[in-house]
Amino acid sequence: MTATLITNIGELTTNVARDGDPCGTMHGAAVLLEGSRIAWVGGMTDAPAQAAARSGAEIVDAHGEAVLPGFVDSHTHLVFGGDRADEFEARTTGAPYAAGGIRRTVAATRAASDEELRARLAGFTAELHAQGTTTFEIKTGYGLTVEDETRLARLAAEVTSEVTFLGAHVVPAEYADRREEYVDLVTGPMLEAVRPHARWIDVFCERGAFTPDESRRILTAGAAHGLLPRVHGNQLGPGEGVRLAVAAGAASVDHCTYLDDADIAALAESETVATLLPGVEFSTRQPYPDARRLIDAGVTVALASDCNPGSSFTSSMPLMVALAVREMGMTPAEAVWAATAGGARALRRDDVGAIAPGMRADLVLLAAPTRVHLAYRPGVPLVRTVWKDGARV
Ligand code: NIG
Ligand code: FE
Repeated sequence: MTATLITNIGELTTNVARDGDPCGTMHGAAVLLEGSRIAWVGGMTDAPAQAAARSGAEIVDAHGEAVLPGFVDSHTHLVFGGDRADEFEARTTGAPYAAGGIRRTVAATRAASDEELRARLAGFTAELHAQGTTTFEIKTGYGLTVEDETRLARLAAEVTSEVTFLGAHVVPAEYADRREEYVDLVTGPMLEAVRPHARWIDVFCERGAFTPDESRRILTAGAAHGLLPRVHGNQLGPGEGVRLAVAAGAASVDHCTYLDDADIAALAESETVATLLPGVEFSTRQPYPDARRLIDAGVTVALASDCNPGSSFTSSMPLMVALAVREMGMTPAEAVWAATAGGARALRRDDVGAIAPGMRADLVLLAAPTRVHLAYRPGVPLVRTVWKDGARV
């Protein structure tokens, strides 16, 4: 079994809470990776003995820099054709973001071959890894026919185990006057066909997309087929998305840009994570969600990229951390926790998002002495080395 000892770590974010520190921060630390898992975490003075016990372990000197768990990006839409740079440009002179743009990407995605989509996914995977993301979710939602949604789920499953069926992204143009028939399709033949490739079901519960009643029906049908619910809610305005997600026992409700006190109280009493996607507010010029209010109310918050061609065409989790700190009232420690352990909670994963014996050996070594630098030096490529399942990527 291959082994790697990372030693001389100036600041180690373990996310194993202790002494009131949710990040479980250690200084002068070392971590031993064995095979695909973490075998040992401790003080660097004990590291030589650990290395000696594993003959042939590669020794990596972190030179006093910071190490943290690989980022867990719990919300992306990475299987699509084309892009929408023209819409982004139009917003710079005042055009608003509207959910209807999704239909343009649907047309481009239907026209793309498997090989084109696969090549793009490979490019995005490399892009994610280079920025420290070691676990990521991918949604369907740009096919919206039985055949295309199945194709997108199958392609997504080639690069991640966290695939989400989002047939309920928007009502496609050809069903514009027959939306009930489209919901029948999503909850019937489309669900049956996609189900073998997916773990989750999602619905865009928003004006211009699906109503609360339609959303409930879709999540219920998914659950009856063994898919776990998550929801896009309260992105473009106030609405029932958050309460619907909580009532459905969703792992996560994502966006949460427009919340009232009742939404926050419902989240605080639930197991549902509030996943905030600041790349969307950056790109669409909407107000940022109030993370401080959520955290102070006791809600579990995750950060994710929402990487997609319409509302947030970035896969950078370091950028999400920087935006959360600068624009959303989060401390650097809270933002890094939300981008790692928070993402793991949003995906109901207990094997990623922390550095502890038995966890997957997914880690990031920064070219910086503290995690604060992720927000303090925005836009600088601070991710130096990334390990996924114990191997460098
Ligand atoms: O999460 N809100 C719905 N879906 C995406 C946007 C998709 C698009 O504009 O293409 C989102 O923001
Ligand atoms: Fe999304």
